[in-house]
Amino acid sequence: MRIIVTEDYEGLSIETARIIAGQLALIPRSVLGLATGGTPLGTYQKLIDYHHQHHLDFSQATSFNLDEYVGVATDNPHSYHAYMFKNLFDAINIHRKNIHIPNGMAGDLERECAAYETAIENAGGIDLQLLGIGNNGHIGFNEPDLSFEAITHVVKLDDQTIRANARFFSRPEEVPQYAVSMGIKTIMRARTILLLANGSGKADVIHQALFGEISPRIPASILQLHPNVIVVLEQDAATKLPKTYPNKFLLF
Ligand code: GLP
Repeated sequence: MRIIVTEDYEGLSIETARIIAGQLALIPRSVLGLATGGTPLGTYQKLIDYHHQHHLDFSQATSFNLDEYVGVATDNPHSYHAYMFKNLFDAINIHRKNIHIPNGMAGDLERECAAYETAIENAGGIDLQLLGIGNNGHIGFNEPDLSFEAITHVVKLDDQTIRANARFFSRPEEVPQYAVSMGIKTIMRARTILLLANGSGKADVIHQALFGEISPRIPASILQLHPNVIVVLEQDAATKLPKTYPNKFLLF
């Protein structure tokens, strides 16, 4: 696991965008796993800048998003579809046919989940998976659980997650209770994983996830077992890291 600690959110966004840009430069046909939430917004803006200023090319890339709310239409501004088009896809040259986001409006959600998993396999698997982390340690929408078994599945969101997501909705009752999410197994099959965290509110959960017990109660703790994880932390999210590690750039 490689941990990069940055001065500020701008630094986190630059480091992360550089890693993604490097992946695309080396392997233009890369399969990218993408995330939503507040944390990757700066990274997406940097990728847009690199596309416009340095011709970063997405024309051969394929993307799979981690998750989508159930029952929120793709044209609803609160959907993760809308988020991704607004904050990234509309401003880069990725082909529409290569973009994949779970369909939370599917009549048969079980079938949708199975088809999503098959589509990832058919694309050759995910080369680089971007992840944020929830306050309870969730990745994608894999909430604290009793096992790490899941592939793409329907999730009942935790009360803590529903409260955290309420800031994106005008009324609490609008916040979705269910989502379709890649599972922990889907995420762990990615060749490289890039985990981001910003702000002091994530310091405890980052410490538990990276240095605590590996347990489905902190879903992100499974990442300790992945052979190729890069963690990019804005320094306030890194304050609980063991003091024995140097603070700027750390390899172990
Ligand atoms: C949601 C998303 C996650 C994201 C998390 C944290 O739950 N499904 O993928 O990591 O929010 O969001 P933020 O980056 O806004 O803290």
